[in-house]
Amino acid sequence: MKKIAVFASGNGSNLQAIIDAIDNGLIRDACICLVVSDKKEAFALERARRANLPTRVFVPKDYPTREAYDRALVACLQAKGVDLVVLAGFMRLVTPYFVRAYPNRIMNIHPSLLPAFPGTRGVAAALAYGVKVTGVTVHFVDEGMDTGPIILQEATAVHDDDTEESLAARLHTIEHRLYPKAIDLWVRGKIRIVGRRCFLDE
Ligand code: GRF
Repeated sequence: MKKIAVFASGNGSNLQAIIDAIDNGLIRDACICLVVSDKKEAFALERARRANLPTRVFVPKDYPTREAYDRALVACLQAKGVDLVVLAGFMRLVTPYFVRAYPNRIMNIHPSLLPAFPGTRGVAAALAYGVKVTGVTVHFVDEGMDTGPIILQEATAVHDDDTEESLAARLHTIEHRLYPKAIDLWVRGKIRIVGRRCFLDE
């Protein structure tokens, strides 16, 4: 049984999709052993409590540096025996210390087709640029911002009447399918990483 920690700062709809995927057997042989947030008021924490999952809040201002923050996180994850860290709308850049503690064992989901439009405003940036196709990327986290090996991507057309809200909603629907799929592949040992390329033995 693989132990997953999910990190979320906000609404937590991706956390919910992962909870549901475990409940309905889409992800097997894995459990969420911890939900972590940097924000006490994150609705993701409420979702975790409703699902009877343990939660921890790490408030950034309680730590002198970003690395001190990440050292506390890693100590907690190691104490819990976490195998995989899933960032699901966690609005902090993790430090190299964290990445080195969990090499290719931290996943992130991003609402664009990376390497296009990294950063926190991926949906707005894609719309402003005027691309006709955008999408969702699930990738491993390395020491850069949104730069690690890509596990899965799915594209969607940008419609002429799309707003940031309508496009974000469509991307979320894709995310809720793609993230559980990527996690399931990892749990079943189906992701081979060679250099920066991921090969999926489906
Ligand atoms: C998602 O769009 C994800 O791609 C990005 O943050 C958002 C989180 O949404 N990294 P939610 O909190 O899971 O609803």
